[in-house]
Amino acid sequence: MISPTPPRVAIIGTGGISEAHYAGYQAAGAEVVALCEVDQDQLTARALAWGVRRSYTDYHTMFADGGIDVVSIAAPTVVHHPATLAAAAAGVHVLVEKPMALDLDLADEMIAACSEARVVLCVNHQLRSSGPANKAKELLASDVIGRLTHIRLRQAHDWGGKGARRSFATRASSGGGTLLDNGCHLADLARFFGGKVTEVYARSATLAYEVEVEDTAHVSFVTADGAIGTIETAWTATGWEEGFWLYGTKGSIESTNRLGAPTLRHSYRASPGGAWDTTDVTEYRFTGLPPHSRHVLAFLAAVRGEGPVVCTGEDGREAVRLILSAYSSATSGLPVALTGC
Ligand SMILES: NC(=O)c1ccc[n+]([C@@H]2O[C@H](COP(=O)([O-])OP(=O)(O)OC[C@H]3O[C@@H](n4cnc5c(N)ncnc54)[C@H](O)[C@@H]3O)[C@@H](O)[C@H]2O)c1
Repeated sequence: MISPTPPRVAIIGTGGISEAHYAGYQAAGAEVVALCEVDQDQLTARALAWGVRRSYTDYHTMFADGGIDVVSIAAPTVVHHPATLAAAAAGVHVLVEKPMALDLDLADEMIAACSEARVVLCVNHQLRSSGPANKAKELLASDVIGRLTHIRLRQAHDWGGKGARRSFATRASSGGGTLLDNGCHLADLARFFGGKVTEVYARSATLAYEVEVEDTAHVSFVTADGAIGTIETAWTATGWEEGFWLYGTKGSIESTNRLGAPTLRHSYRASPGGAWDTTDVTEYRFTGLPPHSRHVLAFLAAVRGEGPVVCTGEDGREAVRLILSAYSSATSGLPVALTGC
């Protein structure tokens, strides 16, 4: 089902991350025609600020009123499944936030519902759409890094020093703590860079916050090609940290917000034998739209049939599967094999 250009957009959930969706639709020149939010004050404020006329507290009513082509589901994770099913039933294309769902059965139902309704289902693992990640993919494909040996992935923060947001603090609302919240992005990047992940071993702990979920976690993983990797997630960092480090037999890649503006550093030895701590380096700097906006643009291109779905429901499901396996490992203290897929 191809939508009109520009498509008519709705956003469900108008909290923190909805701003990134709104910015993406603005960049695309698409009109946000409807908002759905259960907090009436928040709904009123957003509708006013964004100049959106149709506002709802129930997405079923919103879809029943029609006139919507695509929806961003930016409500807490527990809402992703029912809202996706409602969107699919209304023939509306879906960009759903991460983690896609609280469990694999729910993810399967979302994939099946969108497939049957012939609507696009895209998961908002927006790091796939970043300039550095795409350049890294290109360098990996051109073999300048050689065979991947180690993948290090980190996303960590401290909630701006304000403590965990309420909708993230309970298992009922979010499904897990930093391992699921931040880790699902990194699980997706592990597959994006390294292909199939075959085993995970994890540790997690609640060290700083009064929450029922973990605030610090590590995952060690293995890919089908034999690379080993680590995922580090935390709400116990100081400030925001996000980065990936890819090491291969011919060189390495580093991209972290601690390098400043979006940057990718490629290190290699053009003439081996020099000092151990000095290498040849090529740096790439990226300007333009942020990853969230680029992901929204890619989603809309997929809706128009002009590009692939950058992160499919199956991709989102695999990220959840990897993290749920990591939770099992953290509980049992044993490695967990990921079979199939
Ligand atoms: N892609 C990313 O980098 C990224 C970053 C942050 C959050 N997220 C994800 O986005 C989702 C929302 O996170 P957030 O940080 O915006 O949380 P938030 O708590 O700031 O906002 C969520 C909003 O959804 C509203 N809401 C709750 N139930 C609803 C319902 N049934 N219908 C409509 N609105 C409802 C809440 O009132 C709240 O305003 C979570 O799944 C989270 O994991 C993704």
